[in-house]
Amino acid sequence: LFVNASEASARKMPKHLFGLFFEEINHAGSGGLWAELVSNRGFESGGQILPSSISPWSTIGDESSISVSTDLSSSFERNKVALRMEVLCDSKGTNVCPAGGVGIYNPGFWGMNIEQGKTYRLVLYIRSLEPINVFVSLTDSHGSQAVSTVSIIADDVSKWTKVEATLEAKGTNPSSRLQLTTTKKGVIWLDQVSLMPLDTYKGHGFRNDLFKMLADLKPGFLRFPGGCFVEGDWLRNAFRWKETIGPWEERPGHFGDVWNYWTDDGLGHFEFLQLAEDLGAEPIWVFNNGISHNDEVDSANIITFVQEILDGIEFARGDPDSTWGSVRAAMGHPEPFVLRYVAVGNEDCGKPNYLGNYLKFYSAIRHAYPDIKIISNCDGSSLPLDHPADFYDFHTYDSADIMFLLARYFDSISRHGPKAFVSEYAVHEDNSGVGNLLGALAEASFLIGLERNSDVVEMASYAPLFLNVNDRKAVADAIVFNSSQVFGTPSYWMQHFFIESNGAILLDSTLQANSSTSLIASAIIWQNLDNSKDYLRVKVLAMSTHTFLSRKAFACSLPEVLLLGFSFLPFPSTQALNFVSVKSYWNRSILNATDVIGTSLQAISNSPRL
Ligand code: AHR
Repeated sequence: LFVNASEASARKMPKHLFGLFFEEINHAGSGGLWAELVSNRGFESGGQILPSSISPWSTIGDESSISVSTDLSSSFERNKVALRMEVLCDSKGTNVCPAGGVGIYNPGFWGMNIEQGKTYRLVLYIRSLEPINVFVSLTDSHGSQAVSTVSIIADDVSKWTKVEATLEAKGTNPSSRLQLTTTKKGVIWLDQVSLMPLDTYKGHGFRNDLFKMLADLKPGFLRFPGGCFVEGDWLRNAFRWKETIGPWEERPGHFGDVWNYWTDDGLGHFEFLQLAEDLGAEPIWVFNNGISHNDEVDSANIITFVQEILDGIEFARGDPDSTWGSVRAAMGHPEPFVLRYVAVGNEDCGKPNYLGNYLKFYSAIRHAYPDIKIISNCDGSSLPLDHPADFYDFHTYDSADIMFLLARYFDSISRHGPKAFVSEYAVHEDNSGVGNLLGALAEASFLIGLERNSDVVEMASYAPLFLNVNDRKAVADAIVFNSSQVFGTPSYWMQHFFIESNGAILLDSTLQANSSTSLIASAIIWQNLDNSKDYLRVKVLAMSTHTFLSRKAFACSLPEVLLLGFSFLPFPSTQALNFVSVKSYWNRSILNATDVIGTSLQAISNSPRL
C-alpha cells in the first residue's frame, strides 16, 4: 500500500460524511429510544373508532368484579378515547373485591425496566363522580411483588383531573408492569397514563443507554423519521408532523401501517430536532410529499401539503414570535433549531406524481429558505437528474458479495451535478436481524469506497438503526436492545471504525498486490480535539473473489497501535458477541501477520509521523 501524504494529493472529506438514519421501525422510538414506559397511554391504539384497542393494557379481576370499556369522553380534543372502568366489587358487602383490588395493568413494551433507586414520574388523567382511592404499583410481570407503590386519593375528581406522582424503585426488575387498582365500587375514567424515568438524557426523554450508542458513533447528521414510516401504506397513516408536537397528552398518536404498530408520537418533530441537537448532528428531515405506498395526492392539489412542510420548517427555525416558531418556543426551545437539509419523500421517484409534487415542494422551499439543501428521491448516479436538487438519495440493501463490489460503484460516476446522499445501506446476508461479521466487512469496504469517493458522495447512513428484539421487521440492524439491555451488531462496530472520518483529510493511496481487484483501502488523517496532533488511519480490506472460503479482511489504525486483521476461516457465527471475540483475535493475529498486507502495514507504522 502506497500512501501519498503530499498536500497536493490530499482532500478534505465532508464533515457530515457518516451519520445516522432513524426510522420508527422495530419499535426504535416507541418502546425504544423514547423512554416512555407505558404502551398505548391514551387507550387509542385502535384509533378513534369504538371500541378502541386498549392492548397491551389488561384487566385485573374477573367479570364479576370489573368491567372495562372505551368511550369518547376524553378532555383532549385530538384523542377523544378514554378508558371507562366500572368496579363492581367493594371493600365490604356481598361482592367483596379480591385482596389487592381490581383494576388494570400495563406491561409496557415487553416489560418495563424498573431500577432500584431510580425515580419515575407518573402522570395520569382521571375522572369519577365518586371520591377515589386508587393504588398505583410497579410490580413484577405477574403483579405479585411490588417494587414501588403510591396511592391516589381524592374527594372530588368529577371533572377530568391531572394527577402526578413520583415512584421511587425499591428493587430492580426489567419485566415490571404498572398497575392501577382499587377496592371501591364505582366508575372511574382514565386517560393519558404516562410513566417516564426521571433519568433520561438531559431530561429530554431519550433512554440513556440507547442515546449513548448513537453519540458514540459521533454522527455527522441525523435523518428522520423514516423511511417507509414517512410514507405510510396509506396517506392517512403517514407521519404528519403537526400531530406530533405540543403537550404529549394532546397528541393523537397514529398507527404506522407499514411496520404495523401504534405510536403515541411522544417522539415527534420537536424531539427529533432536539435529538439531532443533542447528538451534535445535522438534522435531515424527510417529509411526506403527498405520496404513500398505495395512494397519492395529485400535483394540482399538493399545495396544502407544501404549506404543511413550510410550517414545519418554520417550527424548526422560525423566530420565537413567528406562528410556528412560537409553538416551538412554548415547548421549551425558544432558540431556533438548525435545519439545513430536507428530503422530499422516501423512495418515491418514478411514482406518477413524484416529479410534479417534488417541483412544487422544491420551488416553495427554495423561495422561502434559499439556504436549505433539498434532496431528491431520484437516483442521479446512473443518469443526470431531470430536475433541480442539491443531493439525490441512494439506497442499497444487498448481499455481502455485491456490497463489496459496490465499493467501486461511485468511482466511475459523473463528477458533475448533485452529490449522493447514501441514506440507507446494509448487507442483507442472513435473516438474523443482527447481521454478521461478513456483512459488516462488506459494509466496511463500501464505506472505504465512499471515503474515496467523498467528492461525489456527501453523506451516508446505515439502516435500520435500532431493533427492539421483541418486534423485528428488518433483516439487519445496527443496535439491538430490549427493555434493559443493548448491544451493537457487527455493522454497528464497523461503523465505529469510521468515527474519525467526518471532516478528515483523505490521502491518495494506491494498493499493489497480486489480487488487487479484491483489495480496497483508504488512508485518512485527522487531528485531535485541540489540534495538537495528527493521526493516520489506514483501512485495508481484502476479499478474494476466487472462493468464498478464502476471504480475508484487514483493518488498521496507526499510529495508535490498534492493528486489526483476521482471516475468515471458518465463517463467523451470526452472534454479535462473537464480533467482540473476533476483535481480540484480530489483535492477536496481526502480530503474526506475514502476508503482503501485514507487511505493508508494518512498513507504514515504521514511517515517520505525519
Ligand atoms: O430500512 C427499512 C426500509 O427500507 C425503509 O423504511 C425504506 O426506506 C427502505 O425500503
